[in-house]
Amino acid sequence: MSSRISGFYKKSISERLAIVKEFANLTDENMELIAHGKIEISLVDRMIENAIGVMSIPLGIATNFLINGKDILVPMSTEETSVIAAASNAARMARIKGGFTCTNTGSTMIGQIQAVNIPDPYGAKMRIMEAREEIIDIANQQDPILVKFGGGCNDVRVRVIDSTISPMVITEILVDCGDAAGMNAVNSMNEALAPLVEKLSGGEVRLRIISNLADKRLVRVRAVFDKDTIGGESVVESIIAACAFAEADPYRCSTHNKGIMNGIDAVIVATGNDWRAIEAGAHSYAATKEPGRYSSLTTWEKDQDGDLVGTIEVPMAVGLVGGVTKVHPIAQKNIKILGVKRATELGEIAAAVGLAQNFAALRALATVGIQKGHMSLHARNIAIQVGAKGTEIEKIAEQMIIEKKVREDRARELLAELKG
Ligand code: MEV
Repeated sequence: MSSRISGFYKKSISERLAIVKEFANLTDENMELIAHGKIEISLVDRMIENAIGVMSIPLGIATNFLINGKDILVPMSTEETSVIAAASNAARMARIKGGFTCTNTGSTMIGQIQAVNIPDPYGAKMRIMEAREEIIDIANQQDPILVKFGGGCNDVRVRVIDSTISPMVITEILVDCGDAAGMNAVNSMNEALAPLVEKLSGGEVRLRIISNLADKRLVRVRAVFDKDTIGGESVVESIIAACAFAEADPYRCSTHNKGIMNGIDAVIVATGNDWRAIEAGAHSYAATKEPGRYSSLTTWEKDQDGDLVGTIEVPMAVGLVGGVTKVHPIAQKNIKILGVKRATELGEIAAAVGLAQNFAALRALATVGIQKGHMSLHARNIAIQVGAKGTEIEKIAEQMIIEKKVREDRARELLAELKG
């Protein structure tokens, strides 16, 4: 079934649910669960401490995505208006030139063990490296299941770093986390290795923790946007100039990358993954990939035909097994809707959505501005806030936009007028 669905936004919620049900081969029960965001309080109580309830975030579907030749409906969970519409619209335009092409560098995460108070840091580094095989062996004893499925610790590196107190010896284990996000696996390995590292270093081991700068777990995506479809040569040039602005200025680059994360986070949240880890990874990667400057996660340029070529390269420490992904009933359904079997596939989809989101934001900023799209949804929200129902919502929102008075007081007046 194609994910190219025109006018999805105009359909009723039950029509949308029916489409998604058919697309992902889900049951009525599954759709009921999704529509009402149901999650048992007893499960919530097992997930966090001091639980008292659930804070719901809207869930929508981005349509039109063609990723590595496969049609994908993307569940996105976000409180921000326009994000899902923008992603769907960008995906529609990307389809014309083949959609999004993705690759990944695998699922390796880095675990860090900090050792301090070492008289001979470089000697310590060599002693630790001499024990490489033993370190890998101890690490892998902590997670036989991961090893059974082809993952596990496969390398060790040691860095002597300068610090404000004294040089530190940082032992880093490289762990292929397979389909797990990897935090538990890597942290257990780190902790198990601490006594050996302490003995070898001759100092004291302090922190033992995974790094969120997951630069060995990158996803790369490329998409080509037909110049005529996106508004012509001037739009192509404007998007390239917008990206150049981000590359030249951290104040702009922060917002540019935030726009990318609007898309990525929404997929990460919908699938029950750790969006703080993804945020940390993305921004630390943006700050380190070019020495001495915070840079854009995306690039935009023109090919020989004058079409716009966009790319993104971003760490993507996501999992499909373990953690919330497996226990949250709606996250599980969302993974079913995505139809992914491997964590790397999920990472590729999230990054493709990030690229689409960046394209949509830059195109809007370079042309009509973003307020137009934002305002129509904002106006609907205000109409709902003042108590409008059914067709009243659209009527009030439209009128406020025509009058350029998107405000609660005006919405109240219009609602009173409609009610006579
Ligand atoms: C708003 O959430 C995101 C944007 O500001 C991103 C951008 O400026 O590129 C529109």
